[in-house]
Amino acid sequence: MTNLTARISVHPDPAAPVVNPNIYGHFAEHLGRCIYEGIWVGEDSDIPNTRGIRNDVTEALRAINIPVLRWPGGCFADEYHWMDGIGPREARPGIYNSHWGGVVETNHFGTHEFLDLCEQLNTAPYICGNVGSGTVKEMQDWVEYMTSDSNSPMPNLRRKNGREKAWKVPFFGVGNESWGCGGNMRPEYYANEYRRYNTFVRTYSDNKIYRIACGANSSDTNWTRVLMENAHTQMNGLALHKYTLIKNTWPPSGSATEFGEAEWFDILDQSYQIEPLIESHIAEMDRVDPERKVGMVIDEWGTWMAVEPGTNPGFLYQQNSLRDALSAAIHFHIFHRHANRISMANIAQTINVLQAMILTDGPRMLRTPTYWVFEMFKVHQGGTTVPLTVESDSYSYESTSIPAVSGSITISDATYVSLVNTDPNRAATVTVGLTGVSFDEGRVLVGDSITAHNTFDAPDHVSPRAFKAVTETDGGFLVELPPASVAILTFR
Ligand code: AHR
Repeated sequence: MTNLTARISVHPDPAAPVVNPNIYGHFAEHLGRCIYEGIWVGEDSDIPNTRGIRNDVTEALRAINIPVLRWPGGCFADEYHWMDGIGPREARPGIYNSHWGGVVETNHFGTHEFLDLCEQLNTAPYICGNVGSGTVKEMQDWVEYMTSDSNSPMPNLRRKNGREKAWKVPFFGVGNESWGCGGNMRPEYYANEYRRYNTFVRTYSDNKIYRIACGANSSDTNWTRVLMENAHTQMNGLALHKYTLIKNTWPPSGSATEFGEAEWFDILDQSYQIEPLIESHIAEMDRVDPERKVGMVIDEWGTWMAVEPGTNPGFLYQQNSLRDALSAAIHFHIFHRHANRISMANIAQTINVLQAMILTDGPRMLRTPTYWVFEMFKVHQGGTTVPLTVESDSYSYESTSIPAVSGSITISDATYVSLVNTDPNRAATVTVGLTGVSFDEGRVLVGDSITAHNTFDAPDHVSPRAFKAVTETDGGFLVELPPASVAILTFR
């Protein structure tokens, strides 16, 4: 079979936007085995840990440079009462986790434990406050407890609980999915609630807060319009949630690892579809805020499939294959293209839930194919984007076509080129019109089938390998990209 072809023309512009590192952010909710077992095992666990947080997981996460971590939810955030999660652990009251699996939350992982995790990961905390079932006072007290250096009751309670120095909490969300699990509010009502709660998210000491309003569900541009019109001067970021589902249909269906080419194609097609959706929300934001002062914060995104057979449906535990890796890479290329509006994105979720980086099984853990995309693409964090024209042959399945090749280039200490070939049947010959640089090194993520994934017995089955199929030609480089692959190339 002949190779498909693609040509990437570059239009370097020093004024082009920078990829905010926070686009490579994460999300960890009290849901299933994300926090308990995935992160928190407790100080007495046989699993090696630092103050109760498992070491194998923090070591793996440090290697992907997580810039920001959103917590404690998700839907859980709007029924979380932070005071239940401070003080001696054995005295903390439990709470019924009504959203996720009907389990009793012990509150053993609370504010101190989360902020310790962030310090262990060198990650900025993004805390989501409770608007749905919490009070303004509760939210105000939480911010003061964490960030104030003063000699007043909240910081003194923090000191009594073992933390002298105030933490920095640079990102704070005022409610989650307030149109749904966060309170079923109408946008006009939430806009008022946002204004009220946000007023009491105070700046203490020198902690500067980037305020994030709850954003739209998927294609609901009316939510974005109403929030921008009524509250944009009081927010720094407006959220958006967009999950990638088979046939873009709720409830989620389809196995994460047992699928054919139809489902492979569909998920990659749906991944490309997030771009017009983002553009429709940006158009609403631009009408009110043409200077782009308010950032778009895509604080939940990723694939959402049926849970693994035999697991609690409320735990949202899914495996992760090469298909997820390509989907993530396509998302990042889209986020880079809109770097002048997107200030943050948080994949859902970090461990054992939805499109996870890491899966655990008792003391064992594995890195998923999605993890490897975050690891390979971390060089894009903070890079200046290079405007591109990508002319690609199509990858067609039945009567639908998508671009076979997706690409992105950023410049920082080197020139980094990432490429995706969505076609599982044909290699791609890609001409990259870069001049004045030399090829240094490359890595590629491929599998032995479209469903390739890692298991606890073969945790490195899908992992990056060295890639050298790059040759210099007149006016650029030729890259021979294998079928169904993601590559990262360094030019210096
Ligand atoms: O990520 C799982 C859930 O998806 C979150 O709790 C919620 O915000 C969204 O509906």
